Amino acid sequence: DIYGPKRKNPLGRDYAILAEQKRADEASKAIARETLTAGPIVGGKLLAGAGAQPLHSPVDRGWLIGGVSDATLADVDQAARRAAKAQRAWDDRGGKGRAKVLRAMGDALERDMDRLVALLSREAGKTLNDGVAEVREAVDFCRYYAGLAEKQFSGFETLPGPVGETNQLELRGRGTFACISPWNFPLAIFTGQIAAALAAGNAVLAKPAEQTPFVAAEAVRLFHKAGLDPDLLALLPGEGATVGQAIVTHPLISGVAFTGGTDTARAINRALANRDGPILPFIAETGGLNGLFADTTALKEQVVDDVIVSAIGSAGQRCSALRVLFVPKDSANELIATLAGALDALVIGDPAEPGTDIGPVIDEAARADLEAHVQRLEKEAKIIRRIDPGVWGAKGSYFGPVIAEVPRPDFLEKEVFGPILHVYRYDPADLHKVTASLANRGYGLTLGVHTRIERFSEEVRAAVPAGNVYVNRSIIGAVVGVQPFGGEGLSGTGPKAGGPHALLRYAVERALSVNI
Ligand code: SER
Repeated sequence: DIYGPKRKNPLGRDYAILAEQKRADEASKAIARETLTAGPIVGGKLLAGAGAQPLHSPVDRGWLIGGVSDATLADVDQAARRAAKAQRAWDDRGGKGRAKVLRAMGDALERDMDRLVALLSREAGKTLNDGVAEVREAVDFCRYYAGLAEKQFSGFETLPGPVGETNQLELRGRGTFACISPWNFPLAIFTGQIAAALAAGNAVLAKPAEQTPFVAAEAVRLFHKAGLDPDLLALLPGEGATVGQAIVTHPLISGVAFTGGTDTARAINRALANRDGPILPFIAETGGLNGLFADTTALKEQVVDDVIVSAIGSAGQRCSALRVLFVPKDSANELIATLAGALDALVIGDPAEPGTDIGPVIDEAARADLEAHVQRLEKEAKIIRRIDPGVWGAKGSYFGPVIAEVPRPDFLEKEVFGPILHVYRYDPADLHKVTASLANRGYGLTLGVHTRIERFSEEVRAAVPAGNVYVNRSIIGAVVGVQPFGGEGLSGTGPKAGGPHALLRYAVERALSVNI
């Protein structure tokens, strides 16, 4: 039962236990000794692609992770042809047959957790706890979509009809899906998109983010080892403008799943609109401009904990992360001072160390964007606290977390992707204006409310549309099958990842009416 109490999450890790800490340390040293290779994987084979380029860790620019070569246009074409040939048999296998492979993949990820966490830390700068959460989420996606495949893709469902006529409906795969994933969840979202497309009976051409091809290559190898026909899943690394464009415009593609920025989603949508042939489904999960509203009844310590985790945890590099905290003017001084104190207590450092709270941002370009935003804050807002990343700032792409008080509720025009918390103090008499100014930006991903008064929560929820609303808790870390995740408006198209309707857009519906 995928919905009920028997649903089990994979086990995590407790780094307070010395033996677990030791295992993490060994895995991290083992990854550091390897020089990894990533490139196009087509038909289960690693191809030469366009020639290897070195990729360095955001933790320390002196650490070479390995060499990555982009897919060529010929690789994309070969992958698409192989996928198209293999897909029919996979679709015919039905949800039950496909679920076995997905479950084997979930088990393989769970077995390799320590190695994957070490790789996530080195390649994407994830802290150990974030890495563990990410591997668990990837496992959850495989198992959850396996359950959905069994339930929703196991042949015809009989419908009512006139006497003498049978009416039935079934879901089938569409063909080959392009899955284009982001660097901030290079394993969980990468695996989740692929698992969804496969569960629904499709083949997949997967393009990982340029910054994180190695963990993606590991995931593809694990899928193949778990028993997936290699032709059903190809890895095609490269730039969006070249490789991504070639994939989404390939004539053998039947749909696109994308997670990343809103501007890229628009570009893909335009490329799809300009194709000849069938009209293809586009599933996009994009950014957010996420707010959290506290009122005077909110519990201060809880607000502070939840706000720091939501805005600064994972170096703010989640699309669900908190960007603007709205505090009532009467409690603002105390709350802002406590938040600043909490920021001082965070440990910035090597994400592979168990005591580290904040690792680097993904690369130098991300750091430069955040620095540019800080310059704007210096001019137009009030910086309450900025943490100096110390020696790490010279080694890797570290950006010290910031809290700034902004003069207007609509100060942020768009998502700023990093550990910067904006705080706005509002007059409760103006709540409706403040909520409207956030809603008017047009995003709709996550929303937080901290209050003991239900009416306050209802008022905020009614005024600010959001796909995932969290009351009196953090606004990050949606769990598969528990908090189906995804937004509306500028934040995405749905259906939600990790929810009961996730597979429907990856599928076609066929109705059959037979008279005897
Ligand atoms: N699913 C992630 C979260 O909920 C997305 O960024 O935090």
